[in-house]
Amino acid sequence: MKTKKLLLSAFLCLFIFSQIQPIWAQNRHQRSPKTVKNDTDAKSFNQSRTIQKSEESFFATMDSKDAQALKSKWPNEILILSSNEDGISAVHLTEKGAHELHRKILVHGPGYVYHSSQESALQALQRKIPSQNKSVTSKEVATFSIDQDAVVQQALDLVDNTNIATTIQNLEDYGTRYHTYSSATDAVTDMKAHWESLAASRSDVSVQLVNHNSTNMPSLVMTITGSAFPEEYVIIGGHIDSTSGSGNSNSPGADDNASGIASITEAIRVLMAIDFQPERTVEFMAYAAEEVGLRGSEEIAIDYKDRNVNVKSVVQLDMTNYAGSSEDVYLMTDTYTDNTLNNFLMQLMDHYNASGTHQLTYGTSICNYGCSDHYSWAQQGYAVSFPFEASFGDHNPNIHTPNDTYENSPLPNATHAAKFTKLALEYIIETAKSADGTDNCYTPSSLSASNITTTSAELSWSMVNGAENYSLRYRLQGEDQWNTLSEIQSANYNLENLSPESDYEFQVQTICASQSSAFSSSQSFSTLSENQLPVYCQSSGSNTYYEWIEMVELNEISNTSGSDNGYGDYSNQVANVSPNTQYQLTVKAGFRSQSYLEYWKAWIDFNRNGTYEASEEVLNTSSSSSANISINFTVPTEASLGRTGMRISMRYNTGQASCDNFNFGEVEDYAIQINENTFAARSNSEKNHSSITIDSKVENLIVYPNPVHDNFFHLNLEKDSKIQSIKLFNNLGHEENLKIIRNEEKIDIGNLKNGIYFIHIQFEERLEILRFVKGTNTIDK
Ligand code: BES
Ligand code: ZN
Repeated sequence: MKTKKLLLSAFLCLFIFSQIQPIWAQNRHQRSPKTVKNDTDAKSFNQSRTIQKSEESFFATMDSKDAQALKSKWPNEILILSSNEDGISAVHLTEKGAHELHRKILVHGPGYVYHSSQESALQALQRKIPSQNKSVTSKEVATFSIDQDAVVQQALDLVDNTNIATTIQNLEDYGTRYHTYSSATDAVTDMKAHWESLAASRSDVSVQLVNHNSTNMPSLVMTITGSAFPEEYVIIGGHIDSTSGSGNSNSPGADDNASGIASITEAIRVLMAIDFQPERTVEFMAYAAEEVGLRGSEEIAIDYKDRNVNVKSVVQLDMTNYAGSSEDVYLMTDTYTDNTLNNFLMQLMDHYNASGTHQLTYGTSICNYGCSDHYSWAQQGYAVSFPFEASFGDHNPNIHTPNDTYENSPLPNATHAAKFTKLALEYIIETAKSADGTDNCYTPSSLSASNITTTSAELSWSMVNGAENYSLRYRLQGEDQWNTLSEIQSANYNLENLSPESDYEFQVQTICASQSSAFSSSQSFSTLSENQLPVYCQSSGSNTYYEWIEMVELNEISNTSGSDNGYGDYSNQVANVSPNTQYQLTVKAGFRSQSYLEYWKAWIDFNRNGTYEASEEVLNTSSSSSANISINFTVPTEASLGRTGMRISMRYNTGQASCDNFNFGEVEDYAIQINENTFAARSNSEKNHSSITIDSKVENLIVYPNPVHDNFFHLNLEKDSKIQSIKLFNNLGHEENLKIIRNEEKIDIGNLKNGIYFIHIQFEERLEILRFVKGTNTIDK
C-alpha cells in the first residue's frame, strides 16, 4: 500500500518535472559545449543524440549507481559522460530513459537533476558532497559563532506547538493550494495579513508579495531590516503551494508543506514577542509553485543573484510534522546543501538541544535530486541547508494525495514541527545576531500578568538583551503615587499583598550598564474578588459510554449527575469549609453494565492561584467498584479565604493529571468557599487575654480519630508529663461534665452531642488545648 502511494506520487513528480524543463532551461545561461573527457560509454550510446540537445533527450546529473543500473537495462537511453568520486554522474538521457529510471529504479522524485547544457552537467560534478567535503568550495561561506544563549533560551521557551497546529489546519482549509487555483493565491494573501499582524508594532519589518513570470501565484517575503549590517541577509523559507494526484482540486498539503510554513510562522511570532532586533537583515519566505518545478524560489534566487544580494545563509523547511524515523531532524547532506552550514546547524542542536525541555536528536539523509526550493538557492551559489522531518525513505507517505491532512499526522499538537521552529529560531538568532543590548537599552515589551489571585499576581515582560536588571512600578488605577521596586534580576516578578477586587497597572524599565530605558507603557490587571472563582485549565474525558462520575458529596454539595459526556461544570454548587478543619469527600462511579478499574483524583485550589498543584491533591485512589469512596482531608491553615475550585477526575485504567484530557472517564468541577475559622479566631482572641495555646505543638499529643464518628476517641498523652488536670469544653465555652482520667486512652463520648470540643490539658508549666469534632463537621452552618 505504502509503496503504491509512493509510486503514484513519483509518477506525478516525473510528469510535473518534465513539464517544467523549458522554464528551467530559459533561465540558464547558454554556454558553449566542452569536450567530454571521461566518455567511457560513448561507443555504446547512439552518437547522433549526444551532439545536439533535442526535445527527446537532455543533460542531467544523477547518482552513479542509478546511472549504471539504467544503462545495464536500457543501454540506448543513457550516455554516462563523467562520474566523480562522490558517486555522481553527468549523463545524457533520453525521455524514455528518464521514464524508465523513474518506473523501475526509483520510487520517488525525478531521480536526476536537469541541466540545460552538457557543460552545466559536468560543472555540477566539480561540486563535492558537502558531508564528505574536505576541499575548499568556491562559494564564500560565513562562519557563525554561538553566543546568544539568553535570547535563544527565551525564544525557545515561547514556542507553542498549538499555534503551529492551528496554522497547518488553516492552510489545509483552503482545500487546495495548487498554484493555478485562486485558493492558492488567497492562502498567500491571507498569510501576508497574518504575518503583518504579528509584526504590527514594528517599523523595521515589511511584508511583501512577490509576483512571478512562471506562475500567477505570488510568493510572500517578510523582511526585518538589520540594524548593523542591513546588506547581509539571513533567509528561511518553504513552499506554500500544494499538489495532489486527484486533479489537484483536493490538495490539503498539510505536511507538504503547510507544516514548514507553520513552523516558520511560529518562529516569526516568537521573534516578535521577544522584540528581536537583528543586526543582519532576516527574511522569511513562503514560495509559490514549488510543486511544479521550484518556480517561485527559482525566480527569487536568480533575482537575488542578479542584484548581487549578499545572502549569508538560507534554510529550507519543507515537511516538518511527520515523525517517520528514529531521530527528530534529518539534515539533507547531498550536493545541494552546504557542508559548513549543515555543520553549523548540528552545532546549534548540540549546544541548545542536547538535553532538557528543548531536547531533540538529529541525523543526516539525502534527497540527491532537486527535491525542494533549497536547490534554487544552491544553483545560484548560495549556502543552503534543508532540515527534514525524517530520513528520506521514511517521509510522510501521504504527501501529494488528498490524505495529506493534519488529522493524519502521527503526533498530537504539531510537536514534531515545533522542533523545527526551535532549530529555526536558533539559526536566525545566531546567524543574524541580536542587536547589541548595551547600545540599545530597549524598553521591555510584552508585559503580562498571570496566576492572578485575590492578593497577588505574577508579572512578566520580554527579557532585554544587555539588561543588568529591571525596575518595576505599580499602582492602583487612578492613584498618582507609584510603588517602585528596583534591581529585579529576572524578567518576571511575583507581586504580593495586593487588595482584593482592585484594578492595578504596572510598568517596567530596563537598567543597563551605562544607561536606562524609559518605563514601558502600562499593563493593567485586576485582582480577584474573594467570591470570584479563578479560571482553570481544561480537563475532560471524551467517552462516557462505559463509565462516568455518578455522585459527589462534600458538605452542601450532594450531586448525583450521571454521565455529563466527559465533563460536568458544577461550579455553581458550593461547599463551605474553613482552614484547619477536616472534611469528608465522597465520590461514586457509575457504570453502564459491568464495573471497571477507575483512577480517582480530586484537587482543591487551596491557595486560589488558578492552578491545581500536586500539593492540592485531596484524593488519589483507584477502585473497580461502584460503591461510595470516602476520604477525609484537612483544609490547610494557610488556605486563602474566598471562592475556589474543586476538580474531581475519574479515568479508566490509568492515572491522570489535573489538566489532562483523556478518553474513557469524566471530570467534574465544583466550587468551594473557604471561610474564616470562627473558632480558631475566637480562641486566638482568647489567647491574647489568657495566653493559652491552640493546636498543640507537643509531639505525640494527638486526638484521633478526628472527627470522631462513633462514641470513642483516643487521647495519646505524653507518658511522663506532669498533668494537673484534663477538662473538656464545648464551643460555647461551657465545661462538659465528663471526667477524663490521665492515662485513660479510650474515652467514651457517647453522651456528647455532635459538635466541636476543646480538651484543655493543664501541664505544670503550660496549658495545651486540643480540638476535636464529634460527628460530621457542621462548623459553618
Ligand atoms: N516536499 C517535497 C520534497 C520531498 C519529498 C523531500 C519527500 C523529501 C522527501 C516537494 O514538495 C516535492 O514534491 N518535490 C518534488 C520535486 C519538485 C522539483 C517538483 C519531488 O520530490 O518529486
Ligand atoms: Zn511535494
